[in-house]
Amino acid sequence: MSRTQVGIVGAGPAGLTLGQLLHREGIETIILEDRSRHYVEHRVRAGVLEQGTVDLLTELGVGERMRREGMVHHGIELRFGGRGHRIPLSDLTGGRAITLYGQQEVVKDLIAARLESGAPLLFEVDDVGLHGVEDDHPVIRYRHDGAEDELACDVIAGCDGYHGICRPSLPDGVLTVYEREYPHAWLGILADVAPSTEELIYCHSDRGFALHSMRSPEVSRLYLQVDPDEDIADWPDERIWEELQRRFDTEDGWTLRSGPTLEKGITPMRSVVAEPMQHGRLYLAGDAVHIVPPTGAKGLNLAVSDVRYLAAALVEWYRSGDDSGLQAYTATCLRRVWRAQHFSQWMTSMLHRPQHDPGGYERRLQLAQLEYVCSSGAAAASLAENYVGWEPSPIPSRA
Ligand code: FAD
Ligand code: PHB
Repeated sequence: MSRTQVGIVGAGPAGLTLGQLLHREGIETIILEDRSRHYVEHRVRAGVLEQGTVDLLTELGVGERMRREGMVHHGIELRFGGRGHRIPLSDLTGGRAITLYGQQEVVKDLIAARLESGAPLLFEVDDVGLHGVEDDHPVIRYRHDGAEDELACDVIAGCDGYHGICRPSLPDGVLTVYEREYPHAWLGILADVAPSTEELIYCHSDRGFALHSMRSPEVSRLYLQVDPDEDIADWPDERIWEELQRRFDTEDGWTLRSGPTLEKGITPMRSVVAEPMQHGRLYLAGDAVHIVPPTGAKGLNLAVSDVRYLAAALVEWYRSGDDSGLQAYTATCLRRVWRAQHFSQWMTSMLHRPQHDPGGYERRLQLAQLEYVCSSGAAAASLAENYVGWEPSPIPSRA
């Protein structure tokens, strides 16, 4: 049996960031990941980092490549009715910005820092199981290199994503799960072609939603709204580019540059929050306990925000024995989590072609909302505040 202070399950953004936050405070951790290093470093996912995420990664000493290669954006475009409208994010938020930098690059930087620090990070572990989270001596059992091992911990951090084992290992009746399924999915491509735009374009069209994002001055990332049961085999590259061009089309004729696709896939969309985010000695963080549709670009940023709160609470507990931060973990995280839930479902419903809209009422509402956001300073400022990352402050009450 081995021992550590905090056993971390999952080496995604949540687990790796938590490992780094605790390591710099002298708290021992072991990270267990069921996939290979190559797999986690090449899984194409998020791209938009909020200012707070960038600041934290920088503070943790893993921001050097991100500063060099990341693309700082000060605005986004909302396109509808064949016209583009800019939301000036930085002007509306006192100078805050977003950074485009691939999630797998963040993961590579965090893994490199972890390995350099010498702190343990095991890939390709199997049969991970949690035991004793309801008493004071939790244990993680797992197999690695063909051998079984047990890891005794003070605390377990469940950072193993939506399909992980930590959330389902809680006894029945502990969690209340709030969820919404969407009748949409995203078909995403990574393409070896210079972006056709300087800023992200979120596009509403009668053919469905489309998003133009990017990873570098040479690589574009694009998404199309499709049905959840769509088969990627029915989408040869030509069809994807043609559909993208039709959706992004403008009154004055806008041209999308196309190029070879490097990766493509279909992702379903859902909203989920499981509460509480803790039970006994188990603390859940990131996608392991909440999911948002990607339209608000919030998932990775929320994962990082959860572990920042968790790390602060653990440091306090180890330093002084004060567990008030740990006890408040769920409530502290949930304010941002639910704000992001609302924002993500709001963006999704404003931009995606409804599945069922016989008289066209839903479509007219969407256009009214888009027009309002693009012409009211207050509405645009609200979108911008959420998009760059909302920081909760105390809720004022009457005297
Ligand atoms: P994960 O990244 O899922 O990491 C969990 C890790 O745990 C994985 O490495 C997994 O292999 C491992 N694991 C699973 N089971 C076990 C087990 N039993 N034992 C050990 N390890 C295990 N978010 C944004 O903020 N901005 C965006 O622009 C954005 N765009 C997105 C676009 C798409 C197409 C998708 C799909 C997602 C997007 N997201 C975005 C969401 C973001 O990718 C996730 O929210 C983020 O990955 C969550 O990080 P995590 O560490 O909580 O979970
Ligand atoms: C991405 O670049 O992958 C991306 C950008 C914005 C989103 C979602 C994903 O809302």
